[in-house]
Amino acid sequence: MDNQQLLGLIGRMTLEEKIAQLVQLAAPFYEGVDDEGQITGPMQAMGITDSMIASSGSVLGYAGAAGAIAVQEAHMKKNPHGIPLLFMADIVHGFRTIFPVPLAIGCSWNAELAQKSAEIAAREAAVSGIHVTFAPMVDLVRDPRWGRVMESTGEDPYLNSLFARAFVRGFQGEDLKEETERVAACVKHFAAYGASEAGRDYNTVDLSERQMREYYLPAYKAALEEGCEMVMTSFNTIDGIPASANEKLMRSLLREEWGFDGVLISDWGAVKELIPHGAAEDEREAAYRAIRAGVDIEMMTACYVHELPELVRGGRVDEALVDEAVLRILRLKDKLGLFDNPNRGASPEREAEIVFSREHREAAYELAAQSTVLLKNDGVLPLKPDAKVALIGPFARSGDILGPWSWDGSTEDAVKLDAALAERLGPGNPAVAEGCGIEEGTEEQLREALNAAAAADVIVLALGEASEMSGEAGCRTDIRLPQVQLDLVARIAELGKPTAAVLFNGRPLDLHGMYDRVDAVVEAWFPGSEGGAAVADILIGAVNPSARLTMSFPHSVGQVPVYYNHFNTGRPQGAPDAQVRYVSQYLDAPNEPLLPFGFGLSYTTFEYDGLKLSSDKMTPDSPIAISVNVTNTGSRAGTETVQLYVRDIAGDVVRPVRELKGFVKLDLAPGESGTAVFTLNEEQLRYHHSDLSFKSDPGRFDVFVGRSSADTLNGSFTLI
Ligand code: IFM
Repeated sequence: MDNQQLLGLIGRMTLEEKIAQLVQLAAPFYEGVDDEGQITGPMQAMGITDSMIASSGSVLGYAGAAGAIAVQEAHMKKNPHGIPLLFMADIVHGFRTIFPVPLAIGCSWNAELAQKSAEIAAREAAVSGIHVTFAPMVDLVRDPRWGRVMESTGEDPYLNSLFARAFVRGFQGEDLKEETERVAACVKHFAAYGASEAGRDYNTVDLSERQMREYYLPAYKAALEEGCEMVMTSFNTIDGIPASANEKLMRSLLREEWGFDGVLISDWGAVKELIPHGAAEDEREAAYRAIRAGVDIEMMTACYVHELPELVRGGRVDEALVDEAVLRILRLKDKLGLFDNPNRGASPEREAEIVFSREHREAAYELAAQSTVLLKNDGVLPLKPDAKVALIGPFARSGDILGPWSWDGSTEDAVKLDAALAERLGPGNPAVAEGCGIEEGTEEQLREALNAAAAADVIVLALGEASEMSGEAGCRTDIRLPQVQLDLVARIAELGKPTAAVLFNGRPLDLHGMYDRVDAVVEAWFPGSEGGAAVADILIGAVNPSARLTMSFPHSVGQVPVYYNHFNTGRPQGAPDAQVRYVSQYLDAPNEPLLPFGFGLSYTTFEYDGLKLSSDKMTPDSPIAISVNVTNTGSRAGTETVQLYVRDIAGDVVRPVRELKGFVKLDLAPGESGTAVFTLNEEQLRYHHSDLSFKSDPGRFDVFVGRSSADTLNGSFTLI
């Protein structure tokens, strides 16, 4: 339909019918559903009538081709204008084939694979009846207490933007009408949800506009530049105003400044939550503020359908605001081809053919292998081929390795570590014992584990957090492993045998009580459906780990937030004239994290030399080339991620001590050398000044090239 036809349709709708397009309801409201679908927020009595449901615009969390077709057909018969429903859901890191959690995907530093994962997720979801995914989540994260860090790709705006683009390309493809096995993407949570105070979900965010523009906004913007169709508001306040009522953010910045003309949806219940936030006294005021802010769809509360008719009829809200929201929603339905084909990609046949197919699982394996970070290795890994292994810990046999936001995945079908290792090590190897549960254990479990360990040459501990310990509403103040697991580690360590730990978790952990007691640590994150296979291949050395952290691991929670791209202070530690006491430091911990951004080991070693800058001067018209030689000095082939950082030595506002500007992956055979070459130009040195202008400052810049944000060769140049 063209715009005129859509406007014609809107012209034929009553005010109530138009407003009902703006409500999004969960599956249990609809006729024909055979299960309640994903319930991802509080269910409450909403006062929704049958006619509101018949005219409603979208459903969330319901998938399955046959079911979706049945619901759509029943709905179309009831809707007075035959307007199809939009089916939306959280397809965050896979649909049925589950990929590693996004924080792990970030650690792959592989945007192509990230794009492929989104394409596969879209394909599986689309044939199962979904039209829109509530992804990518691109919130910049610095606080591992926040359970949702697992949904982000990390603490760096440049990398987050790269992944945001890749996910959007993967979900949406080129043309949503033609490509019915793609889904529209919805970038979230706008804005700056990752800066929730104290790492607590739904909590306050207070950032200067400059800080927000510099670090938090780039990834959302990148997603929109890539054509992302939708945006979701965040739960938090920004400068005291909840995002869903924030006209400055939604109207002035998102719509006017950035030109976003797609659909803006609230998060679950966020419009009515304006009341407890203290931004509205009642539902009427909440509806008024949200529609004025430009929120098109109200997810799972009913302020719009209850209150907007009166607000419009009483003249307080211009009907044009309702019409523009409806137009955006209908335009999205049209873009997805729903007016011509309301069932779009939904197909029980395709569903049976492609969902969880071998090909999709292979892609999940590849990404899991490339996302697993080797954090420590004193030589115990890879496991010797003939070693007798004891696999011990609550994750030894567990399928709880998909992670949060994997509603349609099956933990039963996930490849478990015990089975994957047994396939590779041969009969009777490894011996397996849980030792304890995730948060509790018995004496008998412990005894069994100690016996298995005593009989083995090498011990692999499979430890971590249950998936519900992170994700939405999964915040923790103590981010160590649960005590029962630390006790298990201590008892195993007493045996004095070579021990490697594998971690399954959704956030950087405080590794106290574990890290120093084992010889190797593998961070598997929640690696998805093929996780066990990928981790087993890393443990035996069939895969050489290549992932690098995109979020710092603190020494302890007391350091949080600790991130690589922080500012210096006026009294930095380690300055030549620094005093012993009066410097910016902790008395009981280092300032630096335990494991920095960009860090990750390999089974081989790489040496860096010969850092060269093509010139020590840059002008706006003459970029400089930066190169470094890297040699594989070990005995295995490996992939090195060579990272480029800069520091602007003095600016109008102070600049971070390091900022990632690029990276190059080198695949090197043993003894082979390669050269990583970067081009750096003036545009890459621009930043938001105190007046919010975006420009660079002439002056000196330091350049750092190396294997992590904390281990680099250094040079410098002057921008003139
Ligand atoms: O998309 C999610 C969001 O990230 C958190 N609240 C619920 C939404 C819908 O499931």
